[in-house]
Amino acid sequence: MASSRAPFILNFTAFVFLLLIVGCTARPFHPLPSKNNADGSRQPLQTFRPFNIAHRGSNGELPEETAPAYVRAIEEGADFIETDILSSKDGVLICFHDVTLDDTTDIANHKEFANRKRTYEVQGVNMTGFFTVDFSLKELKSLRVKQRFSFRDQQYNGKFEIITFEEFISIALGAPRVVGIYPEIKNPVFINQHVKWSSGKRFEDKFVETLKKYGYKGSYLSKDWLKKPAFVQSFAPTSLVYISKQTDLPEILLVGDINIPTQDTNQSYWEITSDSYFDYIKKYVVGIGPSKDTVVPAVNNHLQTPTDLVTRAHAHDLQVHPYTYRNENLFLHLNFSQDPYEEYDYWINKIGVDGLFTDFAGSLHNFQKWTSAKPSGDKGDRRASKLLREISLLVSSYKRA
Ligand SMILES: *[C@@H]1O[C@H](CO)[C@@H](O)[C@H](O)[C@H]1NC(C)=O
Ligand SMILES: *[C@@H]1O[C@H](CO)[C@@H](O)[C@H](O)[C@H]1NC(C)=O
Ligand SMILES: *[C@@H]1O[C@H](CO)[C@@H](O)[C@H](O)[C@H]1NC(C)=O
Repeated sequence: MASSRAPFILNFTAFVFLLLIVGCTARPFHPLPSKNNADGSRQPLQTFRPFNIAHRGSNGELPEETAPAYVRAIEEGADFIETDILSSKDGVLICFHDVTLDDTTDIANHKEFANRKRTYEVQGVNMTGFFTVDFSLKELKSLRVKQRFSFRDQQYNGKFEIITFEEFISIALGAPRVVGIYPEIKNPVFINQHVKWSSGKRFEDKFVETLKKYGYKGSYLSKDWLKKPAFVQSFAPTSLVYISKQTDLPEILLVGDINIPTQDTNQSYWEITSDSYFDYIKKYVVGIGPSKDTVVPAVNNHLQTPTDLVTRAHAHDLQVHPYTYRNENLFLHLNFSQDPYEEYDYWINKIGVDGLFTDFAGSLHNFQKWTSAKPSGDKGDRRASKLLREISLLVSSYKRA
């Protein structure tokens, strides 16, 4: 993706004009890339610039992983909506980040569930709280989600319910343009320990079944994939290898912080980012999703010299989609003068990443729209994606031989 980036074009007059419009409307003005084409077809996924991945929806604005957070991210121009898949006690896949409900729902106010508090070992650590795996879907649906961070807008707390994986998919498929999905198989070791499905099915089997049910299939940039784009992500390499035997959807290996071993294979950060491991894992995945501070370390909030992670991953034909980009001063390294656009400029144009997980899909979309607009409307986009697809098919047939 990095090599097909459009040249830097910034039409200053248009920029000022846009600013004026923004200034004059009460609601933020987010130009939609999503108008239906005249022939009624949906506008395709853009594939000529790094992907805008809406991390847990537009969770900078709305409580994470809720339907409104995903709808907002789509309105704001996200290419992919991202989610974490966990399970209820009765085996229904849900969109929820933490294994416990404590930090992002109103579970504390539900006296009827007070006796459900448990302590379980999760990734080698004993955790106490209310676990999703101890609640039926019906019970989970009676809860309401709230903002994780106290410094974000609290007015939507208590308004939205937890959604299922299927409801999440229906939001993506119902979008006015082609919007991809980017689901994570979350804590597979823990979920497989606590939830049992009929006929010995594993969490991963239910996950792939759901994707297949809604027609998600095809290798990266294939015709099927471009119709319903999806990346499958996980921190657990064994889950990705297992899933690759059931679907050819592209997969991304998430890479945690340098002191966190993998939950399934107990491998260190250094092992799974080594050249020899990249040689192995690239048979299964199209890229890696590292924490951005492991790509460019920071000391006292100042960026240090970038590591060679992106260069080495690209040398192995692996994309790099780092996480997580956030507008707030608290998260912006001092080098960026408290300006999230400077951060995007650095990561896209200096580091050369292929996708970005952001809490503020609208900001990333505006940055990209103003600095790397479509080459020449939809036709240019289609030509670029057709070319990329042909190259990728050539490369993959060559690899298989
Ligand atoms: C978790 O708690 C159990 C019961 O007290 C104990 O046996 C186990 O060693 C603990 N595990 C960890 C990782 O601390
Ligand atoms: C994981 O690896 C570390 C370092 O090699 C080792 O100390 C630890 O005992 C291992 N843990 C498990 C659960 O195997
Ligand atoms: C970030 O700022 C620090 C302190 O001024 C400087 O040493 C470092 O080189 C800067 N890093 C980048 C990547 O610009």
